This record gives sequence, C-alpha cells and structure tokens, in this order.
Amino acid sequence: MSGTSQGRASAAVAQSKEKSTGKKEKLDLKPPKGTRDFYPEDMRMRNWLFGHWKDVARLHGFEEYDAPVLESEELYIRKAGEEVTQQLYNFEDKGERRVSLRPEMTPSLARMVMARGKSLTLPVKWFSIPQCWRYERMTRGRRREHYQWNMDIWGVPGIEAEAELLSAIVTFFKRVGITSQDVGIKVNSRAVLSEVLTAMGVPADKFAATCVLVDKLEKVKLDDIRGEMQELGLTDEIITKLVATLSIKDLDALEQTLGNGSKALAQLKQLMEYAEAYGFRDWLIFDASVVRGLAYYTGVVFEGFDRKGELRAICGGGRYDELLATFGGEPLPAVGFGFGDAVIAELLKDRNLLPNFDNNKEDKKMKWAFKHAERLGASHLVIIGEDEIAKGIVQVKNLAKGEQVEVEVSKVSDFIAEQLAS
Ligand code: HAM
Repeated sequence: MSGTSQGRASAAVAQSKEKSTGKKEKLDLKPPKGTRDFYPEDMRMRNWLFGHWKDVARLHGFEEYDAPVLESEELYIRKAGEEVTQQLYNFEDKGERRVSLRPEMTPSLARMVMARGKSLTLPVKWFSIPQCWRYERMTRGRRREHYQWNMDIWGVPGIEAEAELLSAIVTFFKRVGITSQDVGIKVNSRAVLSEVLTAMGVPADKFAATCVLVDKLEKVKLDDIRGEMQELGLTDEIITKLVATLSIKDLDALEQTLGNGSKALAQLKQLMEYAEAYGFRDWLIFDASVVRGLAYYTGVVFEGFDRKGELRAICGGGRYDELLATFGGEPLPAVGFGFGDAVIAELLKDRNLLPNFDNNKEDKKMKWAFKHAERLGASHLVIIGEDEIAKGIVQVKNLAKGEQVEVEVSKVSDFIAEQLAS
C-alpha cells in the first residue's frame, strides 16, 4: 500500500515536535482518506437504506450471512488483470500470513459455499451487506470503503435466477421512489462475446482477460489497449469483429450476428420474457458493450445506471458458474449482484427522495425554545413547524399545566386570552 512510509514520517515529525515543545500535537480529526465516520444522523440514513435492502431480500426469500472483513490474500489472486485485484488493502500479519481486507464479498461467499459443499440444500439464496475496501482513486460515489448489498443464488442454472435478482433490484428502486425514467438496467451476456470469439478461433483460456480489457473501453480508447489485445493473441480482424459486436443495441441485430441457433441470444430473449411477466421490462436495456470488469462472470451480466448519465454504475452483477472450479472445487451455477451505498445516496439526494434524518437538530431547537420560554416566564409557547403550516394550525402549549392543543392560526390570540382569563 502506498502512503505507509509517508504516514510513518509524519508520525516521527509529530513525535520530535512533541519532545521539543513538551506539548502533544493535536490529533488529525479526519478519518483516513476515502473512509467515513457515521455520526447518529448518518447512521439514521444508513439504517433506513439497509432496512430497505434487508426487507427486499427477505421478501424474495433470501437469508442473511456474513464473513470476516479480513481474508486470506490468495482468495483475490486472479490473473486476468482486473482493477480490483490491484486495489487490495493487503499486508502481512504478525504471523507472516498474507491477508487482505475484502474488496468484494463474492470470493468469501464462494469459500463458505464450498466449505459446506454437498450438505447445502440448493438453491442457496443468501444476502449480506458487507463493508468492502478498495484502494481507489476517489470520485463522486467512489470511495475507499463502501457498504455493498449482495444477493446471490447458487444451484440454479436457468435464467429465472437472473430474473429474480433483477426483480429484487427493481423492487428496491420502486420502494424508495425511483422510477424507470430515472434508472435503467443494462443487460448483456458474456456468452455473446464468447460465441463470437470461439467462432474466430480464440482459445477459451483468453476469454476472461479479453472481457476485463473490453470493460476498460468505457474509459479508454481502443488504441490504448490494442497492444494488450494483441498480446492476448487477438488479430486486427478479430478486434474489428469484437468492436462491431459491442456496438449492437437490440436483439434483432444480435440475431443477425449470432444466427438464430445462438444460446446466448435464446437466454437473453427468455430473460426479457420473464421481465415482461414480472412487470419490469421497461427497466431493461440490451447493450452488448456491457461486460463488467470482474474476471469470473461467465453468462448474463447487468448494470444499473442513472438515465441522466451523471453518476457511475449504481449496481452490477452477473452469472459466475465457474468460480468454484477456479478455487479447485466442483463447479456450481451461481449468479448475484453487488449494490453500493454511495452512488444510490447521491442519486436519492439529487432527486430529493431522502427522508429528513435531521431530527436531532430540530430537537435541539425545540429544547432551546422551551428553555427560553421558561427563562422569560412565559405562560404559553406557540409551535409552528412544517406540518402545522401545511395544516394551517399551530400547537399551543400551556407551560404551567403542560397541556398542548392544536389551534387554528386565526384563533390563537383569542384562545390564549381565554386561557389567561380562566
Ligand atoms: P462490482 O461491480 O465491483 O461487483 O461492484 C458492485 C457495486 O458496488 C458497484 O456497482 C458499486 O455500486 C459498488 N462499488 C464498487 N466499488 C465501489 C467503490 N470504490 N466505492 C463505492 N461503491 C463501490 C462486485 O463487487 C461483485 N462482487 C458483485 C457480485 C455479487 N457479483 C456477483 N455477486
């Protein structure tokens, strides 16, 4: 991890200053870069969000699990050149073991599923809200720790598992007031690229690394990664075909490229039919350029995005039927998604969809008003908040008796005069 030696150096400077002045250097009150404190008002927001995530997961019959935030580093060693494996918070512990904070939950989940093996009753439908750590360059909605809602299904080879997960995501969006006009979910299948590349003679063991490179095309130009593609053995002819395939945006055009016997096409068509039956077809957009950046996806992949195009991906997931095999186990069909807390918070703020979590401030103001009235020796306190304004009333509190009643605005002075006279 970079920055460690810098940290030690500033600690040493602080110590030497302390020695010469005899005074303690004031502690830096900020949490480490890219991380957050959660004061009670932030926890209110977090619990509200997690509450919706948990409710939606349980509504769909998922059970909660958890795993340690610290894992063996080898769980994340993959050779396809993914960004996430270069962003590890990894180090050697005091027992000289290579360990890492988890950058994502899926490898831990795979380890747990593999450990239980045949004793698990399939399908497994589990959810979790882990804190994940990535040494990222910071941008809006991208930080060094985030909480990530995960829902995964193990043991279902059919596309109905993808449909169920997408239904859960849409259910969540609707619950918090987000519509299909605000957000869309791009859907594709890695099987599309796999069919094209296999037909052109690209060996299967180059596939994951090719997908990781293709994912970069969202941020960099083709010519910036052409060299890396060539190193994987992709000829210019293959690269041209690949790029043409990525630009396809509807299933009819895809049929022309893959032919009507294509399995990838059949699956995508079926997914759209399920979405229609569930009632969320309007949220889905087929887009062949979406492959996602993680090496282990093998089939359908998807990604939630804001239609205004101002934010990074809201959530992402896909099918990863071969992950257990890469850990030396028996392959087991699996599909899931991760949904971070940072981008959705930005979106909800932008759309004014967050409830008011600031009741602490109001409490403080109210306390001050009561104290002030007491100090003045007032007989009554008139309280006007947003709710009262909306209803055209005020709350009148008789401070001697402690009684509080609602009174129409036009009748306040008569009401107080009557009370004082009685
Ligand atoms: P991912 O696409 O790397 O997938 O991340 C999933 C989601 O986590 C992103 O769409 C975003 O909402 C959030 N996220 C990721 N990195 C950051 C960050 N640095 N700051 C804020 N939010 C972030 C996975 O991690 C897969 N393990 C998901 C999965 C589960 N696939 C199958 N099962």
